[in-house]
Amino acid sequence: MGFPVTRPRRLRTNETIRAMVRETRLSPSQFIYPMFVCPGKGVKKEISSMPGNYHWSVDTLVEEARSVKSLGISGVLLFGIPGSKDEVGSSACDDRGPVQEACRALRREVRDLLVITDVCLCEYTSHGHCGVVHNEEIRNDPTLELLAGMALSHVNAGADIVAPSDMMDGRVGAIRTVLEKNGHQNVPILSYAVKYASAYYGPFREAAQSAPAFGDRRSHQMDPANVREAIREVESDIEEGADILMVKPAGPYLDVIRMLRDRFAVPLAAYQVSGEYSALVAAGRLGWLDLPKVMLESLIGIRRAGADMVLTYFAKDAARILA
Ligand code: PBG
Ligand code: ZN
Repeated sequence: MGFPVTRPRRLRTNETIRAMVRETRLSPSQFIYPMFVCPGKGVKKEISSMPGNYHWSVDTLVEEARSVKSLGISGVLLFGIPGSKDEVGSSACDDRGPVQEACRALRREVRDLLVITDVCLCEYTSHGHCGVVHNEEIRNDPTLELLAGMALSHVNAGADIVAPSDMMDGRVGAIRTVLEKNGHQNVPILSYAVKYASAYYGPFREAAQSAPAFGDRRSHQMDPANVREAIREVESDIEEGADILMVKPAGPYLDVIRMLRDRFAVPLAAYQVSGEYSALVAAGRLGWLDLPKVMLESLIGIRRAGADMVLTYFAKDAARILA
């Protein structure tokens, strides 16, 4: 029994009926907004590779975070632009660093906005690598204790959730152990469990001033060709104490999100990264794409693939459209 008895168009005749049968929804509560925090006062400096995104000092960041909260967005993800860098990224653990100060200020001034901090050394090392470098090799095990110290310093300053993005083996366990020892049993770890060595991070490296001085990140980030490997990354992170698992980038890896959604019962996040954002913004500016529409379409695609939450530079714009 087919046409004309079945007519899929019957359920598409007007917006009310379309909304009633809609399978996937977008809500600002599913969004997390990434922000860059730098030293100083009164700073709001646009990032040229990511129009509409800024370096904020703590005071201006707090004001911006209020408007993020008022749009119904669940949280912010903080990246630090430190005042100084060295070989081992010492400033990452500075209790007076921009991220730590921002955690304190947000905790004090903006109620019920989740403060999530990115944990990785590449913004803090002089060579721009995510770990300790020895003979041009990124050393795994010596990096773990630095990452754990960085995460602890964020949590001590008031971070609600820590998000390790470094892709060193064993880092979730190292962070979980340090948090347990220091009485932070209830701080969730949002692990960048499945993070690919992607060219889509290009605009971010300008934003975070974190481009590697030599080499690349392929010795720790995943090969874009792999999907079975993601299962093992997720299994080990869950075992080490991660609470939320992330896939990154999002748009080019929707199959990975779907596969993990079908296989694991944990909350899944996806990061729509800087290159995904900037490419759409650029096409919109050229008049080639309708930006508000492709923005929502890209986000619904990520949700439809199975992500519970989306980290996105579109968080504010999308929340405004949805309101
Ligand atoms: C740090 C980090 C990166 C991103 C998030 N955390 C850059 C990288 O791994 O080179 C990328 C975010 C984006 O492109 O929006 N390790
Ligand atoms: Zn890094």
